[in-house]
Amino acid sequence: MRIHRKYTGLVAGAAAVSLLLAACSSGNNNNNATPGASSTAGAATQVEVFTWWTSGGEKAGLDGLVATLADKYPNVEFINGAVAGGAGSAAKDLLQSRLQANDPPDTFQAHAGMELNDYIQAGQVQDVSDLYTQFGLTDVFPQDLLDLLTVDGKIYSVPANIHRSNMVWANPTVLTDAGLDPAATYATMADWFVAMDAVQAAGQTALSVATTWTQVNLLETVLMADLGADGYVGLWDGTTDWAGSEMTAALQDFEKLISYTNTDRDGLDWPDAAQMVIDGTAAFNVMGDWAAGEFDAQGLTAGTDYIYFPVPGTDSMFGFLADSFTLPVGAPHADGAKAWLDVVGSLEGQTAFNVAKGSIPARTDADPSKFTEYQQGAIADFASKTIVPSLAHGAAAPTAVLTAISDAVSKFTTGGSDLATFQDELVAAVG
Ligand code: GAL
Repeated sequence: MRIHRKYTGLVAGAAAVSLLLAACSSGNNNNNATPGASSTAGAATQVEVFTWWTSGGEKAGLDGLVATLADKYPNVEFINGAVAGGAGSAAKDLLQSRLQANDPPDTFQAHAGMELNDYIQAGQVQDVSDLYTQFGLTDVFPQDLLDLLTVDGKIYSVPANIHRSNMVWANPTVLTDAGLDPAATYATMADWFVAMDAVQAAGQTALSVATTWTQVNLLETVLMADLGADGYVGLWDGTTDWAGSEMTAALQDFEKLISYTNTDRDGLDWPDAAQMVIDGTAAFNVMGDWAAGEFDAQGLTAGTDYIYFPVPGTDSMFGFLADSFTLPVGAPHADGAKAWLDVVGSLEGQTAFNVAKGSIPARTDADPSKFTEYQQGAIADFASKTIVPSLAHGAAAPTAVLTAISDAVSKFTTGGSDLATFQDELVAAVG
């Protein structure tokens, strides 16, 4: 499977297909789109929107959706239910408690793929296929992305964006000061380690990282780099051996990378680690491209204040994740939620949101010229690279597996296990 997309002025490439997640793609929706269909919010008066976008570029993106809501649905009041903590590190547990207590928000964000599938299997979200017809959405998203939102022919959420997880963000001044060429690229992890040694010798942190989920984000990119796209995808379809020697070698690279990082990592969240690059106290940071939204929100200029490139060894891959919004079972203001889903799926909403968020629109008809140079590159890369699912952001594995992997990572990076035990625990985590 390959997510095909065409943007105005861009032709989607025909790269190899690697996005799996077959478990939540057991059917396609065949509703006919109703282009131009609009809706009214009826008696809706409010919508509580549950996200983890509370500051910087993330909040700016959310604000873009809120502005579009005010424009399209002036009678719907936006209630911000956001809970701080990158990648939903605090929000997801709280959301689960609320869902189990029959106290759902009117809509919540969920990652396309296995994470959304968990909510579907638990009967916590409603089929929104009819809204695709009502809002004219059936033909505006790539079919393969719709497949990730679909079970048994029913679609369960509206995608807001597509993010890339396997990017390095770097401070060119720190690199220059360490005697490195900021324009240099590194073909392999080993090449990258040489540059990190130079940064360390110059007295700076080579690689900034934060709390556990950011370490898992880092781990997934090492696995992509060292196992290749097929090997990485094989981790999720059972064809790659988690106990094998190639996996051991990749985990050794992860251990080495962690040795280059700031020791206060577990007390930080992703914006803090990105800030180290901005402030010039670290050379590199591996993070999804919401970092681009953060850098831009701070008024920084790409190419001068910061540079970016795919994690060494992953240039041919696009680490895929997508945020989508749901209609929970028992949503108290379903009409308000539907208005929000209309906004999320609309061209206006997707443009306002993604320009600030650092991601690219899920819609294929957005105008690339409205986006930054980084985003225009990401649009082109998404059309041409091999798409592989992000672990840290719900695309590759169910939440229970991600939680078990995260626990193993945390234990390892805090010194609670050696490499062999770490690998054993990862084997157990995927069961
Ligand atoms: C991801 C989410 C992104 C961004 C990031 C950091 O899980 O998909 O939109 O919010 O977390 O918080």
